[in-house]
Amino acid sequence: MNNIYNPITTDILQQLKDIVGPVNVLTDEERIENYSHDETSKEEYAHMPEVVLTPTNAEQIASIMKIASKHTIPVTPRGAGSGLSGGAIPLFGGIVLSVEKMNKILEIDEANLTVTAEAGIVTNELNEHLKSRGLFFAGYPMSLETCFLGGNIAENAGGGKAVKYGVTGRYILGMEVVTPQGEIVNLGGKITKDVSGYDLKQLYIGSEGTLGLITKATIKLLGKPNVASDLLVPFATAQEAIAVVPLILKQGIVPTSIEFMDRSSTEMACTYLNETLPLDGVGAMLLIELDGTDEATIEREMILVGDLCTEHGAMEVYIAEDATARERIWSVRRNIAEAIKVYSPIQSLEDVVVPIGSIPLVLPFLSELSKKYGVRIPCYGHAGDGNLHATAIKDPEMSMEKWKEIEPALLSELYAFIVGELHGKISGEHGIGLKRKSFLKAVTPDGEYELFKSLKKAFDPQNIMNPGKILV
Ligand code: LAC
Ligand code: ZN
Repeated sequence: MNNIYNPITTDILQQLKDIVGPVNVLTDEERIENYSHDETSKEEYAHMPEVVLTPTNAEQIASIMKIASKHTIPVTPRGAGSGLSGGAIPLFGGIVLSVEKMNKILEIDEANLTVTAEAGIVTNELNEHLKSRGLFFAGYPMSLETCFLGGNIAENAGGGKAVKYGVTGRYILGMEVVTPQGEIVNLGGKITKDVSGYDLKQLYIGSEGTLGLITKATIKLLGKPNVASDLLVPFATAQEAIAVVPLILKQGIVPTSIEFMDRSSTEMACTYLNETLPLDGVGAMLLIELDGTDEATIEREMILVGDLCTEHGAMEVYIAEDATARERIWSVRRNIAEAIKVYSPIQSLEDVVVPIGSIPLVLPFLSELSKKYGVRIPCYGHAGDGNLHATAIKDPEMSMEKWKEIEPALLSELYAFIVGELHGKISGEHGIGLKRKSFLKAVTPDGEYELFKSLKKAFDPQNIMNPGKILV
């Protein structure tokens, strides 16, 4: 890989210090090491930056980008570092630009049902602030206790409530971005419709920090539903559990969530949290949430969904109505990724997405791959969106050499099946980043890939904005 970038000289470093102040410039190796990786395995993807900057406003970011552009220095935007595809890793060194100090709520506008906040606010904090006003932001990434709003937008985060509420992008009405050239641009606003020119806002959503840096956003809020219930439904086999998912969706009920957790994912999360769920003879579970404003409707829908599951082989239908019981179950679900990581830090956490009718076809293929390559592949995820997190894990006794041989072959085979046979995509919410860029090229038709490249070139002709991501 040719590095076309220039190093950060003492003189440039001084200019950066003048912009953000010395306390917002980190160069000491121990501190910048934290910024060399995200939640992908360090051994495979980590890369050190030369400097980490923690600016406090968009004007500083604009000045930084002007310097980076003048001297051809790569800049990698960073949120909380909770990403799962290496998007925040500074592949070519240079500057990591962390928005961690830009974490204010700027305005809650109850008349227009919007909140405007800086990119570094933790997702869950937004909802904590909105709760007392009876409002909420429907984004619910599983990392909501740590991830930042800016990262959610840059990755178009999905999460656990997308069956009913859709993904992050649906709620972003406006945003402020700094372009690679250092211009501050405001897109959208507080309006819900807008066909006034190209929809640049939509282009930035999910662009993984490769087209510019998101500094703040205006989010559409909803009235908070006051009734919610969760069904925890165990099945003897994973296949029975997953096969019910399209049937539930066909009923005309729109659950908030339909999550799938196979036995080994659930066991690992329970061990990690020191939690117990009834797992005797269970192959997998569905976690189905319903929410709304009318108790009787939720009750009726719960019975319908529960009965449907029972008719199709559910061993039991547990109902969690109070907040504590619901949070216990969701905590197990949210912690699966971390639990598997604790068991095996070297792994490939996948994020394939297929049309809902094809969901039942994914698990048998994963079993074949697991046998063929001799690796375990626990699986869980947002089944109601057709989005599953199959996680191929390197068992501790497998050599790194063997893993490095197996991982790309297994992924190529998985992606070819998902895209070629099921008409799905290789990532539904974690993005391409560093981890999947060669695979994206392999599964994308040439015409579409050329458009990706032209787009990147139009926004960032010097290729300084998060280079080495999405595109090879
Ligand atoms: C989850 C993350 C890994 O669904 O996307 O738990
Ligand atoms: Zn997920």
